[in-house]
Amino acid sequence: MNEMIKNIHNRKSVRVYEEKIVSPEEKGMIIDAAIQAPTAGNQMMYTIIDVTDGDLLKKLSKSCDNQPFIAKAKMALIFCADYQKWIDTFSIVEENPRKPGVGELLLGCNDALIAAQNAVIAAESLGIGSCYIGDIMEKFEYHKELLNLPRYVFPVTMIVFGHPTEQQKNRSKPKRFDKKYIVHENAYHKMDSAELRSMFEDRAALTPNVSFDFAKWVHAFYKRKYDSDFSKEMTRSISEYIKLFDGK
Ligand SMILES: Cc1cc2nc3c(=O)[nH]c(=O)nc-3n(C[C@H](O)[C@H](O)[C@H](O)COP(=O)(O)O)c2cc1C
Repeated sequence: MNEMIKNIHNRKSVRVYEEKIVSPEEKGMIIDAAIQAPTAGNQMMYTIIDVTDGDLLKKLSKSCDNQPFIAKAKMALIFCADYQKWIDTFSIVEENPRKPGVGELLLGCNDALIAAQNAVIAAESLGIGSCYIGDIMEKFEYHKELLNLPRYVFPVTMIVFGHPTEQQKNRSKPKRFDKKYIVHENAYHKMDSAELRSMFEDRAALTPNVSFDFAKWVHAFYKRKYDSDFSKEMTRSISEYIKLFDGK
């Protein structure tokens, strides 16, 4: 394995940080790596909001599903899909430009997320941990005002960074599903219930000394992650953003 691939394999989410700051040089390298990401048509349909205000970070730690570790991060970047700058540019020259639709929203999300993952891997290579915060897509009305987001800007993810504590360095990385369930050859293969069960059981078997009850685990997961208030709020909030990209 080369160093790049080792970094990708070793990277895991870090949620507890040393007091040590992320230096301006480190931050510069992380952001520059994000900006080197490919984007559709080299349009860079994203904007990064660099959260440097501690009070703002505290507010975000509350609005993003009350996760106190966010407020303790040493650096935080919000990656926004951004079609505003393009429609504003078109409007300078075109009399009646077509209004952005969901295609522009999704393409902007692709650009923003690819750049975000570059930042994560660059940070890992510098020994700096990171954690994605998907809850930035929640609370449409609040985040729009807090971050001064214009109509065609959607905050698709936040990433918080900091140097990992020893405990975080030693924490084992959650196991992934086996490749055979993830890679389908040539066409999509819809899994039946036996295959789905095996997918979870195979993964659980990779964690020694932990017993796994499929039905109990799935039920608890359904309640905690899917049929939960934050998840319903996420769907509500994102539908509000999507309404703005209606092409009208
Ligand atoms: C889109 C996305 C949103 C996430 N949101 C959160 C979050 O709000 N809070 C959190 O603690 N972790 C969050 N995570 C981290 C995941 O829980 C984590 O990546 C996953 O459990 C796998 O663990 P690992 O990153 O340590 O390998 C998010 C990850 C992704 C990719």
